Amino acid sequence: MMKHKIGNRELHPIGVGTWGMGGDRFDDGNVFADYRDDEREIEAIRYAIALGQNHIDTAQLYGAGHTEEIVGEAIAGLDRESLFIATKVWRSHSLRNAVAHAATESLRKLRLDVIDLLYVHAPWDAIPMAEYIGGLNDALDAGLTKMIGVSNFTAAQLEEAIGLSKHPIVANQVHYSLLKRDSVDDRMRALCEKHDVTIVAYRPVERKALTDTTAPTPVLDAAEKLGCTPAQLAIAWLIGQPGVVTIPKASSPTHVDENFAAMGVRIPDDTRKRLDAVIGSA
Ligand SMILES: NC(=O)c1ccc[n+]([C@@H]2O[C@H](COP(=O)([O-])OP(=O)(O)OC[C@H]3O[C@@H](n4cnc5c(N)ncnc54)[C@H](OP(=O)(O)O)[C@@H]3O)[C@@H](O)[C@H]2O)c1
Repeated sequence: MMKHKIGNRELHPIGVGTWGMGGDRFDDGNVFADYRDDEREIEAIRYAIALGQNHIDTAQLYGAGHTEEIVGEAIAGLDRESLFIATKVWRSHSLRNAVAHAATESLRKLRLDVIDLLYVHAPWDAIPMAEYIGGLNDALDAGLTKMIGVSNFTAAQLEEAIGLSKHPIVANQVHYSLLKRDSVDDRMRALCEKHDVTIVAYRPVERKALTDTTAPTPVLDAAEKLGCTPAQLAIAWLIGQPGVVTIPKASSPTHVDENFAAMGVRIPDDTRKRLDAVIGSA
């Protein structure tokens, strides 16, 4: 069984995504908090953790800050050492002097002393990269986080970030799935291997697009032949690659169970090649 890790920390390859818990996004793009489903979402996170999914992914942005509170409640009283908690700093706090303030506020909401992995949520053209990469380094030096990472970075941006950073950049969280492969091209793979950067694949089941069974697709066909569901195939496709972990979001035990069972799915090389050829590789 392939070992999965971020930095020096071994962790479960299937983590827990939390976008959409505790809030969502209006049509105009602004995010909002929503407290109605807190109990169900907290239970879903606890359920996944009980199965062993110890990597929890959240962000300052999600639910306009409420999602971190949901995670804080879900993990309260659990064994801290067994968990790997990652959060992200949003653009609003990407100036060097502001990153540590965001991290401190995240810690308060998460009810933690230290974050395991603090990302910058995305690269922002209007802000020099040295600002937010410097801010991440300051947060680590201040003991607010154990590791730092980036998200939505291209290979060129990742290379620049590595050059600017005093501490290792241990992860790049990107949109990467069976249906979306260009984020992890050959250059990205080589860079990640050279600098020990883990790819954290987000949107693994494409917010249900992969699980729609109404029309025949190569994914459905391959899943049927392997005796698994499309979501399981999509997750197994990711975690079967060296240096890749993923963070599906599931807010029901049924979805959590289904996704977790992807651990038992092995994709034969010829099926992988066929999927690559039919869907198109990076
Ligand atoms: N860094 C970034 O910019 C960024 C961007 C997007 C996402 N993320 C992170 O990545 C995580 C995952 O991405 P995502 O939430 O966008 O997409 P996703 O995990 O691919 O899809 C989540 C959606 O799929 C449903 N689902 C999950 N398992 C399923 C299954 N087995 N069968 C059918 N439907 C299933 C969920 O429904 P239920 O909720 O009803 O279970 C939810 O609606 C996020 O939650 C977030 O933590 C990061």
